[in-house]
Amino acid sequence: MCGSEMKGDNPVEVNNWRSAEHVRSYLSIADDRPHGEEIVKVLLEQVPSDVSYVLDLGTGDGRLLALVLQKNPKACGVGLDFSEPMLERARKRFEDTDCIEILKHDLNESLPKGRWEPFDLVISGLAIHHLVHGRKKELYTEVFGLLRSGGVFLNLEHVASPTKALHQKFLAAIGLTPQDDDPSNKLLDVHTQLEWLRQIGYKDVDCHFKWLEIALLGAVKP
Ligand SMILES: C[S@@+](CC[C@H](N)C(=O)[O-])C[C@H]1O[C@@H](n2cnc3c(N)ncnc32)[C@H](O)[C@@H]1O
Repeated sequence: MCGSEMKGDNPVEVNNWRSAEHVRSYLSIADDRPHGEEIVKVLLEQVPSDVSYVLDLGTGDGRLLALVLQKNPKACGVGLDFSEPMLERARKRFEDTDCIEILKHDLNESLPKGRWEPFDLVISGLAIHHLVHGRKKELYTEVFGLLRSGGVFLNLEHVASPTKALHQKFLAAIGLTPQDDDPSNKLLDVHTQLEWLRQIGYKDVDCHFKWLEIALLGAVKP
C-alpha cells in the first residue's frame, strides 16, 4: 500500500523523512538525478528576478532556497521542514546568511498566518507528495493566502504516473525496483493538481516541465 500501513484496522500514514538514514540516502543521489541540470535550468527560468521574500515548503537541505538566492542575491526567506537531520543541514548551509530563517514545521499543520507574509514566491521541491491528497489541496489554498498579488507558486513535484507500467519505467530510470518504492510517497496526477490550483483562484496555472514522474507546476496569484 503506497503511503499508508495498517495498524490494527486503521491505516497509519507513513513518512520516513525524520529518519537520518532516509535523509542520507536521498542526499547521496540528489545531485545526480536524471535530467537534474535541465530541471534546475527550467526552475530558474520560472523563478522571478524580483523576489524579495520567499517561502520554501519542505526545504530539506535548502537547495531550492539557494537557487532562488542565486537569481535574487538580496532575497530573504523562510524554509520549513519537519525533519531534524534536514533542518540541521539547511541551517548549516545558511549559517552566514542573515535573512534566511530555517524553521521546524510539519506541513500537515496549517501554515502560520499573519507571521511572515506576503511572499513574492512560494516554492517547494519534492515535498508536498508526502501529504495526503486532502492536505495537499488545503496547503495550496493556504499558499494562495500567503502570496502577494502577482506572487508566484512553483511546486517541483513527484507526481503519479498514469499507469503501473509507466511508474515502473520511472523507478527503473532512477535506478530503483518496485521493492525500493518509498512508502512515504502519496503521488497524485498533474491534471488534478492543476485543476485544484485553478479552482482556488490562481491564474497562469501550468505544468512548465515534465519528465516521467517529475513535474514543475506553476501558478500566479491574480
Ligand atoms: C525529497 S526531500 C526534498 C528536499 C528539498 N526540497 C529538495 O528539493 O531537495 C523531501 C523533503 O520534504 C520534507 N517533508 C516531508 N514531509 C513533510 C512534512 N509533513 N512536513 C514538513 N516537511 C516534510 C522532508 O523532511 C524532506 O526534507
